[in-house]
Amino acid sequence: MSAPPPRRVYFRTFGCQMNEYDTGKMRAQLVADGFVETLEPEEADVILLNTCSIREKAVDKMRSALGDYRSMKRNGKSVTIGVAGCVAQQEGQKLLDQYRELDLVFGPDGVPHVRELVKRAIETRRPVLDTDFLDLDAYPFVSDIDPADHGVGAFVTIQKGCDNKCTFCIVPSTRGVEISRPHTEILDEVRALVDRGVQEITLIGQNVNSYGLKRTGELTFAQLLRAVAAVPGVRRIRYTTSHPRDMGDDVIEAHRDLEVLAPQLHLPVQSGSNRVLRRMKRFYKREHYLDIVAKLREARPDIVLTTDIIVGFPGETDEDFADTMSLLNEVRFVGAFSFKFSGRPGTPALKLKDWVEPAVAQERLATFQARQRELSAEWMHTLQGTVQNVLVEGPSRHDEGVVCGRTGTNAMINFPGPVELVGEWVDVRVTRAFTHSARGELA
Ligand code: SAH
Ligand code: SF4
Ligand code: F3S
Repeated sequence: MSAPPPRRVYFRTFGCQMNEYDTGKMRAQLVADGFVETLEPEEADVILLNTCSIREKAVDKMRSALGDYRSMKRNGKSVTIGVAGCVAQQEGQKLLDQYRELDLVFGPDGVPHVRELVKRAIETRRPVLDTDFLDLDAYPFVSDIDPADHGVGAFVTIQKGCDNKCTFCIVPSTRGVEISRPHTEILDEVRALVDRGVQEITLIGQNVNSYGLKRTGELTFAQLLRAVAAVPGVRRIRYTTSHPRDMGDDVIEAHRDLEVLAPQLHLPVQSGSNRVLRRMKRFYKREHYLDIVAKLREARPDIVLTTDIIVGFPGETDEDFADTMSLLNEVRFVGAFSFKFSGRPGTPALKLKDWVEPAVAQERLATFQARQRELSAEWMHTLQGTVQNVLVEGPSRHDEGVVCGRTGTNAMINFPGPVELVGEWVDVRVTRAFTHSARGELA
């Protein structure tokens, strides 16, 4: 008798790195359980959507995807459909009520036991719901190591959840309270990654600067950076995301002292107006942010900064927006993610009065993005003609015989070269700069 064909699972991921990595963990666990990943939803026995609810648009995208999969089921396909992630956490039972074809709904804390959840959904043939948050002291961080990934860089989760209460943000309610992963576990994982050939480590969490502060005897974030830097074989470290309020001098000193800490930082400011920052409950002022930037530049003169911006927060006036533009011009970010404010269920900002007209918010967004594009392009052009040291990441996705590598400042440079260069550090002369990447040749 031949073995039954393997069950196939299809993943669709929306949202941030947390979700990307949660999907990776689910993939690893289900593959260990005998599943095979398919890239075609039509072929799948199980479809898992890992969802994001940070802005309404993200939820719309997920609803449209879910609509496609449920019609496959209505048309007779036998498939188990699950919704995971932040929308699942936020809507829970409501999703099951709304979509009768759904078999499984679970939040981010369900990821460590995805095998059991999927099994239950298949076997009981009744909708399964799991949106409980796991216990603070016993939260099981699952390894980030994806056996299928042979990249030169890897992400390592150092904390989950968030204890801040930025008034626009849904993350604290979808991801729960902040829990730091023990540093021993983090360092073991870093060592295991280095053994697999990884050279660049990116530490991830929603607010990495507050790492360890709640766990007695735990390292601080600055100490963790130093400990990771001391692991033999770690050649470059990045981290994301930082909150300006918690950006202490000790972290700035780490930028001064640690050569392997990349000269690049994503430091979301959200707004340049103190009035708006106060209404967002960000707990820092524009002046404080600029002060951090000045100190960072003194500590590490080659550091480049990127940020996140929200325009059209309730009550934002033309003057407030002008403050955001002047901050942009003062700091000269090399890149920014910018968004129109989106009211999220249950967040305090929803109750604020005087919402900004959508057309005004749209115009402000366009103004911001146009200036940011100029600044990004200007910065990339300063690289033209220079020689940059890059870590080669892989073949270019578009051109045969071309590989790409990143500078410490996170600029992507494409240049002709054999794939054997992947994992090597090479000097590249930049021949042509674009807005977000550059062309070059081996120097
Ligand atoms: N923890 C990170 C960011 C998480 S969300 C931090 O604190 O910086 C990523 C970005 O999405 C935020 O920085 C913010 O700019 C944006 N964002 C979050 N909620 C939003 C909302 N309701 N409307 C528009 N943008 C939002
Ligand atoms: Fe959201 Fe603020 Fe926490 Fe970032 S720090 S995840 S914006 S609440
Ligand atoms: Fe989205 Fe949840 Fe990440 S809301 S941005 S997937 S933490």
